[in-house]
Amino acid sequence: MRILLLGSGGREHAFAWKITQSPLCKALFIAPGNAGTKGLGQHLPFGVTDFDAIRTCCIEQAIDMVVVGPEEPLVKGLVEYLREEPLLKSLSIIGPGQQGAALEGSKAFAKAFLQRHGIPTASYREFTKENYQEGLTYLQAHPLPIVLKADGLAAGKGVLICSTHQEAIQGFEEMIQSAKFGEAGKKVVVEEFLQGIEISVFVLTDGKNYVLLPEAKDYKRIGEGDTGLNTGGMGAVSPVPFVDAVLWEKIKTRVVAPTIQGLQQDGIPYCGFIFIGFMIVKGEPFVIEYNCRMGDPETEVVMPRLQTDLVELLAAAAAGELKTQTIKTDPRTACTVVAVSGGYPEEYRKGFVIQGLDQLPDSSLVFHMGTQQKGDDIITSGGRVLAVTAFGNTVSEAAAAARTIQDSIQFEGKYYRRDIGFEFK
Ligand code: AMP
Ligand code: GLY
Repeated sequence: MRILLLGSGGREHAFAWKITQSPLCKALFIAPGNAGTKGLGQHLPFGVTDFDAIRTCCIEQAIDMVVVGPEEPLVKGLVEYLREEPLLKSLSIIGPGQQGAALEGSKAFAKAFLQRHGIPTASYREFTKENYQEGLTYLQAHPLPIVLKADGLAAGKGVLICSTHQEAIQGFEEMIQSAKFGEAGKKVVVEEFLQGIEISVFVLTDGKNYVLLPEAKDYKRIGEGDTGLNTGGMGAVSPVPFVDAVLWEKIKTRVVAPTIQGLQQDGIPYCGFIFIGFMIVKGEPFVIEYNCRMGDPETEVVMPRLQTDLVELLAAAAAGELKTQTIKTDPRTACTVVAVSGGYPEEYRKGFVIQGLDQLPDSSLVFHMGTQQKGDDIITSGGRVLAVTAFGNTVSEAAAAARTIQDSIQFEGKYYRRDIGFEFK
């Protein structure tokens, strides 16, 4: 199979690493990729939303399967665009069309979907310019804290957790009246705050059948002890120690199965990943978000634990035959620790030379998130730079092993959290 992988982060490096282990993969192309994916496939110099270049590449390189890493091309309609091309009739695409991607692309759509299909989630209301005054009254009477969500994609910044009514009203005003998040914030979801523990669950579906990949817990805050600003994710662990058979059963019967049935009832075809963000409240699962893709850095622990051939799984999903597939998982714990450039998630610099990568043992799992090859050097090209994944029999063992490897990699201003997995043994 000739595969085109779209994206340039740690998620795509982990995908590329796993895809190239499959005997079914005859050629891998990666657009645009990063310094870490360089040895794993042929890089192509176009971006993930350059639909024209993607179509041309699929035709010229006789691509059999496109694997879409990030959400943006899906939300913008890449699948519909490629489906219109008569020369690509037999192309498999891993990633949903625009309607399916709206589960991530529109919070209001996702909330209505959850409610329509009786899937547990926080109660909510949605507001726009039209019912702005009503929104203000609603906010004033709402118990604290209040969760405000810009409807559209806002690069992970569209959620505000407000601890006072004044803060909520100001955030609401900024989103709707001052268009702080542009179009994305012109509609706002106001949601009940759920107190609990977050976990991420990953579903691969063909629209009718599904398989569950290993779950993960992501560490979103920049600072140790879960303090400071939100980031794209500073580390992850899998499995999550408190997720037992009872909770899995609730997750499957109350959320995953009704989600797939809901897509079918609503006539939404879906081939690809659904990443469900959960808040577990006193042992009960509530959905806080859907994503139409895998998580980053969660993929950097999920792929290493997945023992099933990924290409076989993706091919089965594309053929509508996921029912025939079972998932085999490494029972050990994987932990990934993300190194970022000083200043991230606020202003940070790029272009620092990364040292130590060539002296690591071959078995090290270093997934590049924001790197670039420059001559003989590998330099930083993003806020999140490298995720190091290691295994252990416990979370603390895996985390310690990941830190040891992180400590032998250097670049100016490097920072990472030394406490990923801190709440577990
Ligand atoms: P999202 O962009 O939907 O992933 O939201 C960002 C973060 O906000 C989540 O990872 C949660 O930590 C938090 N969050 C979102 N919705 C809620 C909620 N209803 N209750 C508590 N925390 C929430
Ligand atoms: N790590 C969270 C995400 O990928 O959205």
